[in-house]
Amino acid sequence: MALWGFEWGVSSSAYQVEGGWNADGKGASVWDTFTHKPGSIVNNANGDVACDSYHRADEDLYMLRALRVKSYRFSLSWPRIFPDGSRASLNQQGVNYYNKLINGLVASNITPMVTLHHWDLPQALQDIGGWENVSMINYFDEFCDFCFATFGDRVKFWMTFNEPYVIAWVAHGQGLLPPGIKNPGYAPYQVAHNLIKAHAKVYHIYDERYRKTQGGLVSISLNADWVEPKDVDVFREVAAADRALQFRLGWFAHPIFKNGDYPDAMKWMVGNKSELQGLPASRLPAFTDEEKEYIQGTADVFCINTYTSEIVHHVTSLLSPPSYDYDQDVREAEMDDSPATAMKGLRVVPWGLRRLLNWIKEEYGNPEIYITENGMSTDSKTTVDDTDRETGAENMNCHLFLLAHNLDGVKLKGYIAWSLLDSFEWLNGYSIGFGLHHVDFNHPERPRTPKRSAHYYYDIMRNNAAAH
Ligand code: NOJ
Repeated sequence: MALWGFEWGVSSSAYQVEGGWNADGKGASVWDTFTHKPGSIVNNANGDVACDSYHRADEDLYMLRALRVKSYRFSLSWPRIFPDGSRASLNQQGVNYYNKLINGLVASNITPMVTLHHWDLPQALQDIGGWENVSMINYFDEFCDFCFATFGDRVKFWMTFNEPYVIAWVAHGQGLLPPGIKNPGYAPYQVAHNLIKAHAKVYHIYDERYRKTQGGLVSISLNADWVEPKDVDVFREVAAADRALQFRLGWFAHPIFKNGDYPDAMKWMVGNKSELQGLPASRLPAFTDEEKEYIQGTADVFCINTYTSEIVHHVTSLLSPPSYDYDQDVREAEMDDSPATAMKGLRVVPWGLRRLLNWIKEEYGNPEIYITENGMSTDSKTTVDDTDRETGAENMNCHLFLLAHNLDGVKLKGYIAWSLLDSFEWLNGYSIGFGLHHVDFNHPERPRTPKRSAHYYYDIMRNNAAAH
């Protein structure tokens, strides 16, 4: 059974692979600032050089051609193109780099899938408040408009944000990632509100100015890990699992794919209905009716990054109302039967992926789905012989087979593996790697070598997930 058009690919992101952090006029991003502060990252690592992809586009293209992927998902570094965040600061050399990469992909018959923002906000924009400041919406739109006009003749698949949940919650609630703001009660909701509005505006700009001539599509890559109740027979456990899904995926998916508004679960816990439960007054901003209409339907396909599944259970006492911060309300339980990976908590759980895709199908009216990230990590001592990866991948592949062949009626259109290369893995630095290719970070030329998993994935793609 041939899967015509199924998009098999690999992924990366600018800060994680490019290096050249201040080369040729690039501005600093929040990640440059953060990593240059000692003690932020394992072994004080940073992305100053990373895989040096900024100077090695030809090598990356060579690997992509050798893998024979149909698509390559990468992100544009906003401060490489607009060093201070605004169009007035345009850096032509940054544009040249992306033109070279995109032209190389097109010439190799590989579809460029472009993320417009994968976390590396220009530091100059953070200095005026970053995503907490509503004016980011206009800065982001200006940047995206420029990218559509400049690259859109060749790029037909755009994602506005990568994992907005991480920007909102992890960076502004938990304060773990830059800008490191720890204000869980308020900032994440404000930030998410701005991200959703910025996304919707970019979608409309594409619609009004570019869609007719360029004919591409626009979406957003959302965090989506399956959440299973600890006990399916206990109402509060089932409700906690549903709340977890809504607070993470529904937070963004509900407004964009459903009805322009936040999920009810959020309104009851942190929104305008929370007072009815004796909880603190609303911290969830509200959309006007006009805004709801503007936001609803602003994605052409449903893109998810998915890595694992969790079992959650309700942890507040039966007598008290559920706690209002999602994070306190649910807790991860053990999933002992699934293979663990080097990154704590990320276990490969194929049955969870299948349930997740079916949940999205039911909840959002059977949209076309792309898995824009999925992968597993190994520690840095593993070089090319990553056999544990194969076990995980094989496990996963059984389900990809079902899904890619539409047996559940899920319209899965593509699977993009994370990642092409071992790269800068955020807080973990270079201590773990998700790459299908090993990179020698001790060598100035950053040699790349395919791992066993690259060969394995090659076979999966060639056989459309059918042979295993
Ligand atoms: C999701 C992020 O988008 C990506 O940047 C990261 O490397 C992977 N998760 C693995 O942690």
